[in-house]
Amino acid sequence: MSARKILVTSALPYANGPIHLGHLVEYIQTDIWVRFQKMRGSECYYVCADDTHGTPIMLRAEREGMSPEQLIAETWTQHTADFAAFGVNFDHYHSTHSEENRVLSRDIYLRLREAGHISSRSITQAFDPVKQMFLPDRFIKGECPKCGAADQYGDNCEACGATYSPTDLKNPVSVLSGERPIEKDSEHYFFKLGDFAEFLREWLHAEGHLQPEVRNKMFEWLDNGLQEWDISRDAPYFGFEIPDAPGKFFYVWLDAPIGYMASCRALCDKLGLAFDDFWREGGDAELYHFIGKDIIYFHALFWPAILRGAGLRTPDAVFAHGFLTVNGEKMSKSRGTFIKARDYLDFLHPEYLRYYFAAKLSAGVDDIDLNFEDFTARVNADLVGKAVNIASRCSGFILKRFDGCLADVGAEPELFGKFLAAGEGIANLYESREFGKAMREIMALADAANQYIDEKKPWLIAKEEGRESELQAVCSVGLNLFYLLIAYLAPVTPKLSHDAREFLNVTDDRYWGWPTRIEALLRANSAGERRIIDSPLVGHRINPFTPLLTRVEPEKIQALIEASKENLEPTVTAPAASAEKPAWLEPIAETVGIDDFAKIDLRVARIVHAEAVPGAEKLVRVTVDIGLETRTIFAGIKTAYAPEDLIGRLTVAVANLQPRKMRFGVSEGMLLAAGPGGRDIWLLAPDQGAAPGMRIQ
Ligand code: MSP
Ligand code: ZN
Repeated sequence: MSARKILVTSALPYANGPIHLGHLVEYIQTDIWVRFQKMRGSECYYVCADDTHGTPIMLRAEREGMSPEQLIAETWTQHTADFAAFGVNFDHYHSTHSEENRVLSRDIYLRLREAGHISSRSITQAFDPVKQMFLPDRFIKGECPKCGAADQYGDNCEACGATYSPTDLKNPVSVLSGERPIEKDSEHYFFKLGDFAEFLREWLHAEGHLQPEVRNKMFEWLDNGLQEWDISRDAPYFGFEIPDAPGKFFYVWLDAPIGYMASCRALCDKLGLAFDDFWREGGDAELYHFIGKDIIYFHALFWPAILRGAGLRTPDAVFAHGFLTVNGEKMSKSRGTFIKARDYLDFLHPEYLRYYFAAKLSAGVDDIDLNFEDFTARVNADLVGKAVNIASRCSGFILKRFDGCLADVGAEPELFGKFLAAGEGIANLYESREFGKAMREIMALADAANQYIDEKKPWLIAKEEGRESELQAVCSVGLNLFYLLIAYLAPVTPKLSHDAREFLNVTDDRYWGWPTRIEALLRANSAGERRIIDSPLVGHRINPFTPLLTRVEPEKIQALIEASKENLEPTVTAPAASAEKPAWLEPIAETVGIDDFAKIDLRVARIVHAEAVPGAEKLVRVTVDIGLETRTIFAGIKTAYAPEDLIGRLTVAVANLQPRKMRFGVSEGMLLAAGPGGRDIWLLAPDQGAAPGMRIQ
């Protein structure tokens, strides 16, 4: 019998933003499952990639003054560093903007076309006459056709919840230029999803492909009929051009799941594995996709249909998880609960979060709440207070009184046997993604270990003469129970478990698995010379104890939340004027060369719109026309200018300032003004003959 061969994926994060704690639910969940499979001796591979294509990424790069390639390269570096810091251990992390993906996307498309699953026809869409591009729904704003609320997106109204198409909006404007979109026709390509209705019905019916609650939802969709899926987008678009269709690109969601295959392809090339074993129909590998519940439609309908249509294997299962809320609410930038992975790492240990998520995760799609009080309590009481504490309670005596040596004979074989036997139940919980239940089982064992120590009271034994061997036996039992606990926790807390093994001086290759499932373990033996833990450590010398994991400090959480608050309202200080030398006169700054100065792109700007920002004392939200495009800029000039007086004025804007997220929105530039502050701030005003967009030099 050969080892289970398993390919596992997580959804590919978009390359236009940082990894945040919401994402990490998924990557930590998947990583735990993969580590578990590997520890069981399965040949398991975990692949992922950045999802790099599409309009938002193209525009983001443009705004930041870089090429999309540059943007996605930078993001890739940040994403992979964040994942590594959280112990998310991909076997390969790729990019959808890769040669592998280009080739695979093309091949799959051509196979679908050959089999008659692609159609094409002309459709009418909103088009920005200034930007010269078609506008996705999210790039059009206007008044809701149902309730009249202003400033609503082209797909749904946040005020009344209505959904509609962008052509229904009243007074629509392009978010990119502020112009009214026009309607324009163009040829589009469609994937005929309806061809797969029968297949999908069967696939959904078969046990185990989807979680029961997800499956029911899918049947509803299926019953409502399957529309053809538009898989093309017009230039300009950052993506792959469609074969035989110049100027047409694959919609990002067509090549994104194929990115799973591309990453696998790169992995196979790296390790010399056979790619087809994973993807051909009837191959011997298992295939699982971990995703969030927001992208089920793509993974449970489109993706299996595409694979099927291209003559490839379909997934064994798609596992969806719920969304992360923080302290019971949607993550919020102003409350400081939209927490980036990197910010978290500045304050807290990554394995606190891994453990907390594990404790909250189940096989279902319920949302998960990160409640910081609960987080602190669980980590401190369970992980540190129960599990790690066993080692600190027992190691001192062994190190001081027995030169670090454990007893020659394992006492309490029944207790140790009970811990060993619990492994199989814990393994089943890991396998079925019931991580919360697994953590409860493990903590119940930790309770039992602590109870044993409480009953034996080694600190009292230590005070009595002639009870040396008893003391050594009790502490050795405690440490051996700890030895099993950290093995069971290892998928969740790999670093803690690794450090604990160092402390226990387990340098042999004892397999961190479970003693049943002998076939798997035998395989592990012959492949990697690994042995299972089946007996306690006896007559074995441990290393000096160093604290393995300290308690969560609540101040750190507070600091993290503060650091995550995005409140960048600029403060214009208004110092009092003085007789000879005004107090606001600042010393001349360091000299800059002409080259540095030339980097600053100053443009004549016309203020086309200005409004006060509710809740901000000094900010005005202005829309300026800088010739090539319009920008939204937050300027701290309300004390000097009433917004309505600004409209129509010419001023000067820094056009290439990196956009800044502020509490009230993104500021895409800066207006130049001078003055001490308060009522005395003057916007720079170019000559009346100037036109928006003229460069100032
Ligand atoms: N690029 C697509 C996926 C393509 S897969 C072929 C995408 N990217 S994403 O960056 O928005 O999300 C990546 C994964 O993180 C998704 O599975 C998504 O559900 C998950 N999460 C993003 N925010 C989340 C929370 N707040 N909570 C839990 N999971 C979340 O979708
Ligand atoms: Zn509405």
